[in-house]
Amino acid sequence: MARNHKPEDFHELLGIMEELHHLKDLDAALLDALLLQARRLTSADAGSIYLVEDNALNFSFLHNETLFSSARTKHLYTSHTLSLDSQSIAGYVACTGKTVVIDDVYEIPRSLPYSFNHFFDDVSGYRTKSLLAIPLKTTRGKIVGVLQIINPLGKDGESIPFTERDRMVLGYFADNAGITVERALRTREMILRMIKMCELRDPQETGAHANRVGAFAAEIYHQWAFSNGISEPEIKKNRDLIRTAAMFHDLGKIAISDLILKKPGGLEQDEFTIMKYHTIYGARLFENPNSEMDVMSGEIALNHHERWDGNGYPGKIADIFADPVQLGRGKQAEEIPLSARIVALADVYDALVSKRVYKEALSEEEALAFIREQAGKQFDPEVVAAFLSIREVIVAIKNRYQEDSTPPLRYRITS
Ligand code: C2E
Ligand code: SIN
Ligand code: SIN
Ligand code: FE
Ligand code: FE
Repeated sequence: MARNHKPEDFHELLGIMEELHHLKDLDAALLDALLLQARRLTSADAGSIYLVEDNALNFSFLHNETLFSSARTKHLYTSHTLSLDSQSIAGYVACTGKTVVIDDVYEIPRSLPYSFNHFFDDVSGYRTKSLLAIPLKTTRGKIVGVLQIINPLGKDGESIPFTERDRMVLGYFADNAGITVERALRTREMILRMIKMCELRDPQETGAHANRVGAFAAEIYHQWAFSNGISEPEIKKNRDLIRTAAMFHDLGKIAISDLILKKPGGLEQDEFTIMKYHTIYGARLFENPNSEMDVMSGEIALNHHERWDGNGYPGKIADIFADPVQLGRGKQAEEIPLSARIVALADVYDALVSKRVYKEALSEEEALAFIREQAGKQFDPEVVAAFLSIREVIVAIKNRYQEDSTPPLRYRITS
């Protein structure tokens, strides 16, 4: 990114604002776009975003042009929480609402309340020098997060200090970004509320399960798409769609009787037949053909129990709104949408390693052995290959979204 200071920057800024207001999903797309734009405006090499959640600052997104993308993926899911006080730079900004500009973070005077945390530099070998940290505020002035931008680069790629102009441009930017983040948090809150409704009915479909399946699906898709030469913008878009859509895979269980849903032992055949209809009931919730999110959510809900070998359910159905509706002959291989082939694996893996009312949890090794064995039978072999090649990321996600540590609404806003 070459550094330039031209009036066009302000046009760019306006364009960026428009783009931001169209982004609905909080996770990768939004935070990624925010950081990328903020870095572009200042030619900065790296940056991160912290969100205020449950009275703490959660490290939520990281960019670092100099480090590898695998490192990025790993750090993305590393929970890392700062307390809301003035000891850290981001904490100070979140508490005071002030912008902080530092020319060299290793030379912060001892008289200041905050100091630089070397941890990330130490583990990564990266050298953070100039830093600009700015609060993300809503229209009512509530601070929802902190945007931290690092190491602007000069013409020859050398690290240079931030200018007064950088501070001003990012000030405008952050005002808009705060509003966008708050809106996204509210959307996410609604989504998690829908999942919570489902959880009230079905104790095994927890918010943590939904979060894990969504995150697994996003990462498996990313790996699959990368191996298949899909373009970067396409990957980014689909990755966020599948992440959210996958969280809704079992919403149709809300229409299944408690007697079946909560039955401690195995299901009778007729009970299992009723259970199979959760796919159709789920798909009926996503009716809007003009919404990409609805289309993908419907695809996943309908097809997440189809099998690659054609022995899954609910099979081919002419009209999912027909009453009564009949189960069809199983879809096979690429007749099943990719999103559903991915969620099928993500969901079963998570079900296998979790305890259910009707069964004990398998160990990680047992689950992997089962998945390997089912490549080409229950699962798309390419999806299995993608999954197996990112096992480290899968485990990081598993550890991040644990049943007990996940509050019912992870992005609760306390006002
Ligand atoms: P779920 O518990 O979320 O399980 C999702 C899928 O994970 C299952 O889809 C199945 O493909 C896989 N899975 C889960 N546990 C095991 C396991 O121990 N071994 C193997 N090989 N696969 C497993 P499936 O079978 O179509 O079931 C869909 C849903 O029906 C389940 O969702 C659960 O809510 C319910 N269900 C299935 N079997 C039973 C049962 O024996 N008793 C009860 N109470 N519910 C069941
Ligand atoms: C993502 O990759 O979707 C973002 C991960 C997160 O912060 O939940
Ligand atoms: C980015 O900065 O946009 C990505 C950097 C990385 O892959 O680590
Ligand atoms: Fe299901
Ligand atoms: Fe599930």
